[in-house]
Amino acid sequence: MDDSNRVIVEAWNTVLYEKFCRFRHLLVDGLSQHSDAAFERCRFPQGARVLDVGCGFGDSTLRIAQRVGPGGAAVGTDCAENFIRSAEADANAASVHNAHFFVGDAQWGDLRGPYDYAFARFGTMFFEMPGAAMRNIRNALKPGGVFTQIVWRRREENPWLHEAELAVRKIVPVVAHEDSGQVHCGPGPFSMSGPDMVSTMLRGAGFERITFERYDCDICIGRDLDDAIAFAMALGPAGEIIRLAGEEGEKRKPQVVAALTQALAPFVRPNGIWAPSSTWFISATNPIL
Ligand SMILES: C[S@@+](CC[C@H](N)C(=O)[O-])C[C@H]1O[C@@H](n2cnc3c(N)ncnc32)[C@H](O)[C@@H]1O
Repeated sequence: MDDSNRVIVEAWNTVLYEKFCRFRHLLVDGLSQHSDAAFERCRFPQGARVLDVGCGFGDSTLRIAQRVGPGGAAVGTDCAENFIRSAEADANAASVHNAHFFVGDAQWGDLRGPYDYAFARFGTMFFEMPGAAMRNIRNALKPGGVFTQIVWRRREENPWLHEAELAVRKIVPVVAHEDSGQVHCGPGPFSMSGPDMVSTMLRGAGFERITFERYDCDICIGRDLDDAIAFAMALGPAGEIIRLAGEEGEKRKPQVVAALTQALAPFVRPNGIWAPSSTWFISATNPIL
């Protein structure tokens, strides 16, 4: 494993894992809105064997397990051991016997195929070498197997993250990942937003019948404004700018809070803070040779 991948894995296993735990109440519900809509389209049938790549807490894996039933299997994999331990504990607590998890790197690890389907919700955008991961995923699919991934569309269509980023950029100096000397999340949430680039990558990995469907919905980014501000300052591009700026980021937090209070005000509703989000559902098929 090269050094830049090592720092990404370490970030997901430490600082990002802790932040995901802290904001799990927002992340799981918000991200599930997109995967629930995707599941309606890809309809994993009873008996299918499905890989969930970069599965995080594994809530999507458990939903897939429900869909494929006791005769099928949902297999979640993630490079961060802490996520996998949490996913295993949840599957045990819920007595889900057809969900299995293992720690692995999607780019070059053994994905324990063959599978009928592969799925990734907001995982591939953080892989250091997504093209290598796509080839590896295709190799783990049966001929005719379908890989569906959900990725964010461009940042301007995702005010739930972008409004906070714009506000923070005006206040906190941006330090590049490589120059920060800190572990980091990898390429980032919008790295797979361009259909031309992603379809070229999928074709290069040997997939065919590549389709993109746009899906839009508002997601809850805070139970109240304080929750939304804390969320924005911890995660996403705004949170990463603050963290990677180190002491400078810490020093400017009072200004950031004031700016975010203004930036997020338009999204306040009686039942929390809700902002628009937009994704691609990308599907690609492993050819039958
Ligand atoms: C934004 S999180 C998404 C998690 C989950 N799919 C969800 O929707 O909640 C990205 C996930 O990708 C994982 N990841 C990053 N690089 C990876 C790699 N090379 N192989 C496997 N998983 C990776 C991270 O550990 C993290 O759990």
